[in-house]
Amino acid sequence: MAVREILLMGDARLLRCAQPVTAFDTDELHLLVTDMLDTMLAANGAGLAAPQIGVDLQLVIFGTGAPNPRYPEAPPVPKTVLLNPVITPLAPDHGPATPVEVEDWEGCLSVPGLRAVVPRFQRVRYTGFDQYGDPIDRTVDGFHARVVQHECDHLIGKLYPMRVRDFSRFGFTSVLFPGLDIPSRK
Ligand code: NI
Repeated sequence: MAVREILLMGDARLLRCAQPVTAFDTDELHLLVTDMLDTMLAANGAGLAAPQIGVDLQLVIFGTGAPNPRYPEAPPVPKTVLLNPVITPLAPDHGPATPVEVEDWEGCLSVPGLRAVVPRFQRVRYTGFDQYGDPIDRTVDGFHARVVQHECDHLIGKLYPMRVRDFSRFGFTSVLFPGLDIPSRK
């Protein structure tokens, strides 16, 4: 187990479309997942995608289970290891018959010190596999849906600033949220 270096925005490796995982339940894959969990925990991240540590695979992890100091207001999201994900936007439980977008603040460990308001689908279904090859199929909304969309964006070379529409709501965390007790790097 090891904490790996997180690549920062500007690194071309963050712009690739990641390759699907073809071998599940291997020692190599389990070691990679362990390293990613250690790296996410050390950075207090809500999620981490393999490309962020320079690994060109469709693999994301997310979730905390407990309140996260980077997102103290966010509801807990189950700790999840998700490979080869597919996301389908869904209409809200109540309301319009088509998917709707909602706006909220996001940060990213590859874009330290900054936050922006980013539009995401309010409700999505996501499918894929865990590291053992067992299928995952969930329908989620709110912060859980936001985190999944953010992390899976890393697998198609998208960082959240590329999704920002209103740059008047993009700035430094220390200025926007001075009460947020997190190290300035994150
Ligand atoms: Ni990110």
